[in-house]
Amino acid sequence: MPHPYVLLSAAVSLDGRLDDTGPERLLLSGPADFDRVDEVRASADAILVGAGTIRADNPRLLVNSADRRAARVAAGRPAYPLKVTVSGSGELDPAARFWHTGGEKVLYTTDRGAERAQALGLAADVVPLGPALDWRRLLEHLHDERGVARLMVEGGGLVHTQLLQQGLADELQLVLAPLLVGDPDAPRLFGPGAYQRGRLRLVETRRIEDVVLLRYEPTAPGTGAVPSAADRHWLALACELAERCPPSRTAFSVGAVVVAADGTELARGYSREGGDPVVHAEEAALAKADPADPRLVTATVYSSLEPCARRASRPAPCARLILDAGVRRVVTAWREPDTFVPGADGSGVLAAAGAEVLVLAEYEERAKAPNRHLLS
Ligand SMILES: NC(=O)c1ccc[n+]([C@@H]2O[C@H](COP(=O)([O-])OP(=O)(O)OC[C@H]3O[C@@H](n4cnc5c(N)ncnc54)[C@H](OP(=O)(O)O)[C@@H]3O)[C@@H](O)[C@H]2O)c1
Ligand SMILES: [Zn+2]
Repeated sequence: MPHPYVLLSAAVSLDGRLDDTGPERLLLSGPADFDRVDEVRASADAILVGAGTIRADNPRLLVNSADRRAARVAAGRPAYPLKVTVSGSGELDPAARFWHTGGEKVLYTTDRGAERAQALGLAADVVPLGPALDWRRLLEHLHDERGVARLMVEGGGLVHTQLLQQGLADELQLVLAPLLVGDPDAPRLFGPGAYQRGRLRLVETRRIEDVVLLRYEPTAPGTGAVPSAADRHWLALACELAERCPPSRTAFSVGAVVVAADGTELARGYSREGGDPVVHAEEAALAKADPADPRLVTATVYSSLEPCARRASRPAPCARLILDAGVRRVVTAWREPDTFVPGADGSGVLAAAGAEVLVLAEYEERAKAPNRHLLS
Protein backbone atom coordinates (compact mmCIF):
# COMPACT_ATOMS: atom_id res chain seq x y z
CA MET A 1 0.00 0.00 0.00
CA PRO A 2 1.49 3.38 -0.88
CA HIS A 3 2.38 5.69 1.99
CA PRO A 4 3.38 9.33 1.99
CA TYR A 5 7.08 10.11 2.26
CA VAL A 6 7.48 10.60 6.04
CA LEU A 7 9.93 13.21 7.28
CA LEU A 8 10.53 13.44 11.05
CA SER A 9 11.61 16.93 12.12
CA ALA A 10 12.77 17.99 15.58
CA ALA A 11 15.14 20.24 17.46
CA VAL A 12 16.96 18.53 20.29
CA SER A 13 19.35 19.44 23.10
CA LEU A 14 22.77 17.84 23.50
CA ASP A 15 21.24 15.53 26.10
CA GLY A 16 18.53 14.40 23.69
CA ARG A 17 15.59 16.41 25.05
CA LEU A 18 12.82 18.10 23.08
CA ASP A 19 11.85 20.56 25.80
CA ASP A 20 12.31 21.21 29.49
CA THR A 21 9.51 20.81 32.04
CA GLY A 22 8.80 24.52 32.45
CA PRO A 23 5.50 26.09 31.37
CA GLU A 24 7.03 27.88 28.35
CA ARG A 25 8.23 26.00 25.29
CA LEU A 26 12.04 25.77 25.31
CA LEU A 27 13.49 27.52 22.25
CA LEU A 28 16.19 25.22 20.92
CA SER A 29 17.06 26.99 17.65
CA GLY A 30 16.93 30.51 16.24
CA PRO A 31 15.39 32.59 13.44
CA ALA A 32 17.42 31.08 10.59
CA ASP A 33 16.39 27.57 11.57
CA PHE A 34 12.75 28.58 12.07
CA ASP A 35 12.87 29.89 8.51
CA ARG A 36 14.31 26.57 7.31
CA VAL A 37 11.46 24.76 9.09
CA ASP A 38 9.01 27.11 7.38
CA GLU A 39 10.50 26.10 4.02
CA VAL A 40 10.18 22.40 4.84
CA ARG A 41 6.56 22.95 5.89
CA ALA A 42 5.90 24.71 2.59
CA SER A 43 7.21 21.62 0.78
CA ALA A 44 4.84 19.29 2.65
CA ASP A 45 1.28 18.25 1.83
CA ALA A 46 0.56 17.72 5.52
CA ILE A 47 2.09 18.43 8.93
CA LEU A 48 1.48 16.04 11.84
CA VAL A 49 1.96 16.50 15.59
CA GLY A 50 0.81 14.38 18.51
CA ALA A 51 -1.90 15.52 20.90
CA GLY A 52 0.80 15.94 23.57
CA THR A 53 2.45 18.68 21.52
CA ILE A 54 -0.86 20.50 21.04
CA ARG A 55 -1.44 20.36 24.80
CA ALA A 56 2.13 21.42 25.70
CA ASP A 57 2.92 24.03 23.04
CA ASN A 58 -0.41 25.11 21.53
CA PRO A 59 1.31 25.47 18.11
CA ARG A 60 -0.16 27.04 14.98
CA LEU A 61 1.91 25.03 12.46
CA LEU A 62 1.61 27.53 9.63
CA VAL A 63 3.66 28.38 6.58
CA ASN A 64 4.61 31.88 7.74
CA SER A 65 6.20 33.18 4.55
CA ALA A 66 3.64 34.84 2.25
CA ASP A 67 5.94 34.14 -0.72
CA ARG A 68 6.01 30.44 0.06
CA ARG A 69 2.22 30.33 0.41
CA ALA A 70 1.87 32.16 -2.90
CA ALA A 71 4.22 29.67 -4.57
CA ARG A 72 2.11 26.80 -3.24
CA VAL A 73 -1.07 28.37 -4.59
CA ALA A 74 0.60 29.08 -7.95
CA ALA A 75 1.48 25.37 -8.10
CA GLY A 76 -2.18 24.46 -7.57
CA ARG A 77 -1.79 23.48 -3.92
CA PRO A 78 -3.62 24.88 -0.90
CA ALA A 79 -1.85 27.84 0.75
CA TYR A 80 -1.34 25.81 3.93
CA PRO A 81 -0.57 22.13 4.33
CA LEU A 82 -3.22 19.89 5.87
CA LYS A 83 -2.77 19.78 9.66
CA VAL A 84 -2.94 16.33 11.21
CA THR A 85 -2.96 15.22 14.81
CA VAL A 86 -3.27 11.90 16.61
CA SER A 87 -4.91 11.21 19.94
CA GLY A 88 -6.06 8.02 21.59
CA SER A 89 -8.24 9.81 24.11
CA GLY A 90 -9.75 12.52 21.91
CA GLU A 91 -9.16 14.77 24.91
CA LEU A 92 -8.09 17.97 23.15
CA ASP A 93 -8.83 21.61 23.85
CA PRO A 94 -11.35 22.85 21.24
CA ALA A 95 -9.90 26.36 21.68
CA ALA A 96 -6.32 25.30 20.79
CA ARG A 97 -4.76 27.35 17.98
CA PHE A 98 -4.24 24.18 15.95
CA TRP A 99 -7.95 24.08 15.02
CA HIS A 100 -8.37 27.78 14.26
CA THR A 101 -5.41 28.70 12.05
CA GLY A 102 -4.14 27.55 8.67
CA GLY A 103 -5.75 25.06 6.35
CA GLU A 104 -7.81 21.90 6.79
CA LYS A 105 -7.44 19.74 9.90
CA VAL A 106 -7.81 16.04 10.53
CA LEU A 107 -7.71 14.10 13.78
CA TYR A 108 -6.87 10.40 13.70
CA THR A 109 -8.08 8.65 16.79
CA THR A 110 -9.63 5.52 18.25
CA ASP A 111 -13.33 4.72 18.20
CA ARG A 112 -13.57 5.85 21.82
CA GLY A 113 -11.50 8.98 21.12
CA ALA A 114 -13.78 9.86 18.21
CA GLU A 115 -16.81 9.89 20.51
CA ARG A 116 -15.01 12.26 22.87
CA ALA A 117 -13.80 14.47 19.99
CA GLN A 118 -17.34 14.72 18.59
CA ALA A 119 -18.66 15.63 22.03
CA LEU A 120 -16.03 18.36 22.33
CA GLY A 121 -16.96 19.68 18.88
CA LEU A 122 -13.37 19.82 17.58
CA ALA A 123 -13.15 21.79 14.34
CA ALA A 124 -11.63 18.94 12.34
CA ASP A 125 -12.40 15.94 10.24
CA VAL A 126 -12.37 13.13 12.84
CA VAL A 127 -11.22 9.72 11.55
CA PRO A 128 -11.55 6.76 13.94
CA LEU A 129 -9.11 3.95 13.15
CA GLY A 130 -10.66 1.24 15.36
CA PRO A 131 -10.03 0.27 18.98
CA ALA A 132 -6.34 1.30 18.71
CA LEU A 133 -4.37 3.66 16.55
CA ASP A 134 -2.55 1.91 13.71
CA TRP A 135 0.16 4.03 12.07
CA ARG A 136 0.18 2.10 8.80
CA ARG A 137 -3.56 2.57 8.40
CA LEU A 138 -3.17 6.23 9.23
CA LEU A 139 -0.50 6.69 6.55
CA GLU A 140 -2.52 4.76 3.98
CA HIS A 141 -5.56 6.88 4.75
CA LEU A 142 -3.58 10.11 4.40
CA HIS A 143 -2.21 8.93 1.08
CA ASP A 144 -5.36 7.46 -0.42
CA GLU A 145 -8.08 9.69 1.01
CA ARG A 146 -6.28 13.02 1.47
CA GLY A 147 -3.77 12.84 -1.41
CA VAL A 148 -0.79 13.34 0.91
CA ALA A 149 2.47 12.43 -0.82
CA ARG A 150 4.82 14.20 1.61
CA LEU A 151 4.18 14.28 5.37
CA MET A 152 6.24 16.36 7.78
CA VAL A 153 6.06 15.12 11.38
CA GLU A 154 6.93 17.73 14.00
CA GLY A 155 6.83 15.59 17.13
CA GLY A 156 6.61 15.09 19.90
CA GLY A 157 8.74 12.28 21.21
CA LEU A 158 6.00 9.65 21.47
CA VAL A 159 5.07 10.13 17.83
CA HIS A 160 8.67 10.21 16.54
CA THR A 161 9.57 7.12 18.56
CA GLN A 162 6.71 5.04 17.15
CA LEU A 163 7.28 6.04 13.54
CA LEU A 164 10.99 5.26 13.77
CA GLN A 165 10.51 1.98 15.65
CA GLN A 166 7.91 0.80 13.14
CA GLY A 167 10.21 1.49 10.19
CA LEU A 168 7.85 4.14 8.81
CA ALA A 169 10.23 7.14 8.66
CA ASP A 170 11.81 7.95 5.31
CA GLU A 171 13.99 10.74 6.66
CA LEU A 172 15.01 12.41 9.94
CA GLN A 173 15.85 16.10 10.11
CA LEU A 174 17.33 16.79 13.53
CA VAL A 175 18.64 20.10 14.69
CA LEU A 176 21.18 19.72 17.48
CA ALA A 177 21.16 22.71 19.82
CA PRO A 178 24.21 23.56 21.96
CA LEU A 179 22.53 23.39 25.34
CA LEU A 180 21.80 20.82 28.02
CA VAL A 181 18.43 20.42 29.72
CA GLY A 182 19.45 18.07 32.50
CA ASP A 183 15.95 17.46 33.84
CA PRO A 184 15.30 13.69 33.91
CA ASP A 185 11.58 14.28 33.35
CA ALA A 186 12.05 16.43 30.25
CA PRO A 187 10.58 14.82 27.08
CA ARG A 188 13.06 12.76 25.10
CA LEU A 189 13.32 12.76 21.32
CA PHE A 190 13.42 8.96 21.08
CA GLY A 191 12.22 6.83 23.96
CA PRO A 192 13.15 3.28 24.87
CA GLY A 193 11.89 0.29 22.88
CA ALA A 194 12.77 -1.93 19.96
CA TYR A 195 14.32 -0.04 17.04
CA GLN A 196 15.34 -1.52 13.72
CA ARG A 197 18.91 -2.74 13.70
CA GLY A 198 21.86 -0.94 12.22
CA ARG A 199 23.08 2.54 11.49
CA LEU A 200 21.17 5.27 9.73
CA ARG A 201 22.65 6.87 6.63
CA LEU A 202 23.90 10.41 7.19
CA VAL A 203 22.82 12.36 4.11
CA GLU A 204 23.60 15.94 5.13
CA THR A 205 25.07 18.14 7.86
CA ARG A 206 24.51 21.89 7.78
CA ARG A 207 25.55 24.60 10.24
CA ILE A 208 22.73 27.12 10.87
CA GLU A 209 23.87 29.85 13.26
CA ASP A 210 24.89 27.86 16.36
CA VAL A 211 22.87 24.72 15.66
CA VAL A 212 23.62 21.83 13.31
CA LEU A 213 21.07 20.24 11.02
CA LEU A 214 21.62 16.51 10.67
CA ARG A 215 19.69 14.65 7.98
CA TYR A 216 19.50 10.87 8.19
CA GLU A 217 17.77 8.09 6.29
CA PRO A 218 16.91 4.77 7.94
CA THR A 219 18.35 1.88 5.91
CA ALA A 220 17.07 -1.32 7.52
CA PRO A 221 14.82 -3.52 5.38
CA GLY A 222 11.41 -4.43 6.73
CA THR A 223 10.71 -7.84 8.19
CA GLY A 224 8.80 -10.55 6.38
CA ALA A 225 5.71 -9.23 4.65
CA VAL A 226 5.89 -5.91 6.50
CA PRO A 227 7.64 -3.26 4.42
CA SER A 228 9.76 -0.46 5.88
CA ALA A 229 10.31 2.98 4.42
CA ALA A 230 13.88 1.86 3.67
CA ASP A 231 12.48 -0.98 1.50
CA ARG A 232 11.19 1.72 -0.82
CA HIS A 233 14.55 3.51 -0.91
CA TRP A 234 16.39 0.32 -1.82
CA LEU A 235 13.82 -0.61 -4.46
CA ALA A 236 14.15 2.88 -5.92
CA LEU A 237 17.92 2.29 -6.12
CA ALA A 238 17.29 -1.01 -7.96
CA CYS A 239 15.10 0.91 -10.44
CA GLU A 240 17.90 3.46 -10.89
CA LEU A 241 20.40 0.68 -11.58
CA ALA A 242 18.03 -0.71 -14.24
CA GLU A 243 18.53 2.53 -16.14
CA ARG A 244 22.25 1.74 -16.46
CA CYS A 245 21.80 -1.53 -18.38
CA PRO A 246 23.22 -1.67 -21.91
CA PRO A 247 20.11 -1.59 -24.14
CA SER A 248 18.74 -4.85 -25.53
CA ARG A 249 15.88 -5.92 -27.82
CA THR A 250 15.84 -9.44 -26.42
CA ALA A 251 16.09 -9.06 -22.64
CA PHE A 252 14.80 -6.84 -19.84
CA SER A 253 16.79 -4.10 -18.15
CA VAL A 254 16.75 -4.81 -14.43
CA GLY A 255 18.62 -3.55 -11.35
CA ALA A 256 19.20 -5.45 -8.09
CA VAL A 257 20.61 -4.75 -4.62
CA VAL A 258 21.37 -7.18 -1.79
CA VAL A 259 20.96 -5.60 1.66
CA ALA A 260 21.70 -7.08 5.11
CA ALA A 261 19.08 -6.86 7.88
CA ASP A 262 20.99 -4.01 9.53
CA GLY A 263 20.80 -1.93 6.34
CA THR A 264 24.34 -2.64 5.08
CA GLU A 265 24.51 -2.94 1.30
CA LEU A 266 26.18 -6.25 0.46
CA ALA A 267 26.14 -6.06 -3.36
CA ARG A 268 24.43 -4.50 -6.35
CA GLY A 269 24.19 -5.32 -10.04
CA TYR A 270 22.29 -4.79 -13.26
CA SER A 271 21.47 -6.69 -16.43
CA ARG A 272 24.35 -7.17 -18.93
CA GLU A 273 26.73 -5.52 -16.47
CA GLY A 274 30.45 -5.63 -17.24
CA GLY A 275 30.05 -6.62 -20.89
CA ASP A 276 28.41 -10.00 -20.15
CA PRO A 277 25.56 -10.04 -22.71
CA VAL A 278 23.35 -12.46 -20.74
CA VAL A 279 23.99 -11.79 -17.06
CA HIS A 280 20.87 -10.90 -15.05
CA ALA A 281 20.80 -8.21 -12.35
CA GLU A 282 20.28 -10.51 -9.34
CA GLU A 283 22.93 -12.88 -10.69
CA ALA A 284 25.42 -10.01 -11.18
CA ALA A 285 24.76 -8.74 -7.66
CA LEU A 286 24.93 -12.15 -5.93
CA ALA A 287 28.17 -12.94 -7.75
CA LYS A 288 29.76 -10.03 -5.88
CA ALA A 289 28.55 -11.17 -2.44
CA ASP A 290 30.66 -13.63 -0.43
CA PRO A 291 28.63 -16.89 -0.48
CA ALA A 292 29.89 -17.60 3.06
CA ASP A 293 28.62 -14.25 4.35
CA PRO A 294 26.32 -15.17 7.28
CA ARG A 295 24.28 -12.01 6.69
CA LEU A 296 22.79 -13.45 3.49
CA VAL A 297 20.26 -15.61 5.35
CA THR A 298 18.60 -12.52 6.82
CA ALA A 299 19.25 -10.28 3.81
CA THR A 300 16.73 -8.86 1.36
CA VAL A 301 17.18 -8.88 -2.42
CA TYR A 302 15.65 -5.85 -4.15
CA SER A 303 15.01 -6.37 -7.84
CA SER A 304 13.21 -3.94 -10.12
CA LEU A 305 11.65 -6.94 -11.92
CA GLU A 306 10.51 -10.16 -10.25
CA PRO A 307 13.40 -12.70 -10.29
CA CYS A 308 13.18 -15.08 -13.24
CA ALA A 309 11.87 -18.63 -12.85
CA ARG A 310 13.26 -20.10 -16.07
CA ARG A 311 15.97 -19.01 -18.49
CA ALA A 312 17.73 -20.44 -21.50
CA SER A 313 21.03 -18.60 -21.13
CA ARG A 314 22.14 -20.15 -17.82
CA PRO A 315 21.45 -23.37 -15.93
CA ALA A 316 19.89 -21.68 -12.87
CA PRO A 317 17.27 -18.91 -12.93
CA CYS A 318 17.61 -16.01 -10.50
CA ALA A 319 14.89 -17.31 -8.14
CA ARG A 320 17.07 -20.40 -7.66
CA LEU A 321 20.29 -18.35 -7.26
CA ILE A 322 18.59 -16.28 -4.56
CA LEU A 323 17.41 -19.37 -2.68
CA ASP A 324 20.82 -21.06 -3.03
CA ALA A 325 22.45 -17.94 -1.56
CA GLY A 326 20.23 -18.44 1.51
CA VAL A 327 18.21 -15.25 0.99
CA ARG A 328 14.56 -15.53 2.07
CA ARG A 329 13.18 -12.06 1.41
CA VAL A 330 12.68 -10.41 -1.97
CA VAL A 331 11.18 -7.01 -2.75
CA THR A 332 10.27 -6.22 -6.32
CA ALA A 333 8.37 -3.59 -8.27
CA TRP A 334 6.95 -5.52 -11.16
CA ARG A 335 5.75 -9.09 -11.88
CA GLU A 336 7.40 -10.53 -14.99
CA PRO A 337 5.19 -10.10 -18.08
CA ASP A 338 4.86 -12.84 -20.70
CA THR A 339 7.19 -11.06 -23.15
CA PHE A 340 9.98 -13.68 -23.17
CA VAL A 341 8.93 -16.51 -20.87
CA PRO A 342 5.14 -17.04 -20.82
CA GLY A 343 3.82 -18.03 -17.39
CA ALA A 344 7.10 -17.26 -15.60
CA ASP A 345 6.40 -17.26 -11.87
CA GLY A 346 9.60 -16.41 -10.00
CA SER A 347 7.56 -15.26 -7.01
CA GLY A 348 5.84 -18.65 -6.90
CA VAL A 349 9.20 -20.47 -6.96
CA LEU A 350 10.51 -18.27 -4.15
CA ALA A 351 7.35 -18.54 -2.05
CA ALA A 352 7.23 -22.33 -2.46
CA ALA A 353 10.69 -22.46 -0.88
CA GLY A 354 9.56 -20.34 2.06
CA ALA A 355 10.78 -16.94 0.87
CA GLU A 356 8.74 -13.79 1.39
CA VAL A 357 8.10 -11.85 -1.83
CA LEU A 358 6.78 -8.30 -1.64
CA VAL A 359 5.61 -6.42 -4.72
CA LEU A 360 5.63 -2.65 -4.22
CA ALA A 361 3.53 -1.75 -7.23
CA GLU A 362 4.03 1.98 -6.71
CA TYR A 363 7.48 1.46 -8.33
CA GLU A 364 6.17 -0.50 -11.31
CA GLU A 365 6.27 2.43 -13.72
CA ARG A 366 9.87 3.22 -12.78
CA ALA A 367 10.86 -0.41 -13.24
CA LYS A 368 9.17 -0.48 -16.65
CA ALA A 369 10.70 2.79 -17.87
CA PRO A 370 13.92 1.33 -19.37
CA ASN A 371 11.87 -1.53 -20.90
CA ARG A 372 9.21 0.47 -22.76
CA HIS A 373 10.46 -0.73 -26.17
CA LEU A 374 9.77 -4.34 -25.12
CA LEU A 375 6.24 -3.77 -23.87
CA SER A 376 4.29 -2.27 -26.79
N1 LIG B 1 11.86 20.30 20.04
C1 LIG B 1 10.98 19.97 19.14
O1 LIG B 1 11.29 19.98 17.94
C2 LIG B 1 9.62 19.55 19.56
C3 LIG B 1 8.65 19.25 18.61
C4 LIG B 1 7.41 18.82 19.04
C5 LIG B 1 7.16 18.66 20.39
N2 LIG B 1 8.12 18.97 21.28
C6 LIG B 1 7.90 18.76 22.72
O2 LIG B 1 7.48 17.43 22.93
C7 LIG B 1 6.61 17.39 24.04
C8 LIG B 1 5.37 16.60 23.69
O3 LIG B 1 5.76 15.31 23.30
P1 LIG B 1 5.00 14.03 23.77
O4 LIG B 1 5.85 12.87 23.43
O5 LIG B 1 4.54 14.22 25.16
O6 LIG B 1 3.67 14.07 22.90
P2 LIG B 1 3.31 13.83 21.38
O7 LIG B 1 4.19 12.80 20.77
O8 LIG B 1 3.19 15.15 20.70
O9 LIG B 1 1.83 13.28 21.55
C9 LIG B 1 1.59 12.12 22.27
C10 LIG B 1 0.09 11.88 22.26
O10 LIG B 1 -0.31 11.53 20.94
C11 LIG B 1 -1.30 10.52 21.00
N3 LIG B 1 -0.73 9.29 20.48
C12 LIG B 1 0.52 9.11 20.00
N4 LIG B 1 0.66 7.83 19.59
C13 LIG B 1 -0.50 7.21 19.81
C14 LIG B 1 -0.98 5.89 19.59
N5 LIG B 1 -0.20 4.94 19.05
N6 LIG B 1 -2.25 5.60 19.94
C15 LIG B 1 -3.03 6.54 20.49
N7 LIG B 1 -2.65 7.81 20.72
C16 LIG B 1 -1.39 8.13 20.37
C17 LIG B 1 -1.65 10.36 22.46
O11 LIG B 1 -2.66 11.31 22.70
P3 LIG B 1 -3.77 11.18 23.86
O12 LIG B 1 -2.99 11.36 25.13
O13 LIG B 1 -4.72 12.30 23.58
O14 LIG B 1 -4.39 9.84 23.75
C18 LIG B 1 -0.34 10.74 23.12
O15 LIG B 1 -0.47 11.12 24.46
C19 LIG B 1 6.33 18.81 24.44
O16 LIG B 1 7.09 19.13 25.56
C20 LIG B 1 6.79 19.61 23.24
O17 LIG B 1 7.28 20.88 23.59
C21 LIG B 1 9.33 19.42 20.91
ZN1 LIG C 1 17.09 -13.64 -13.83
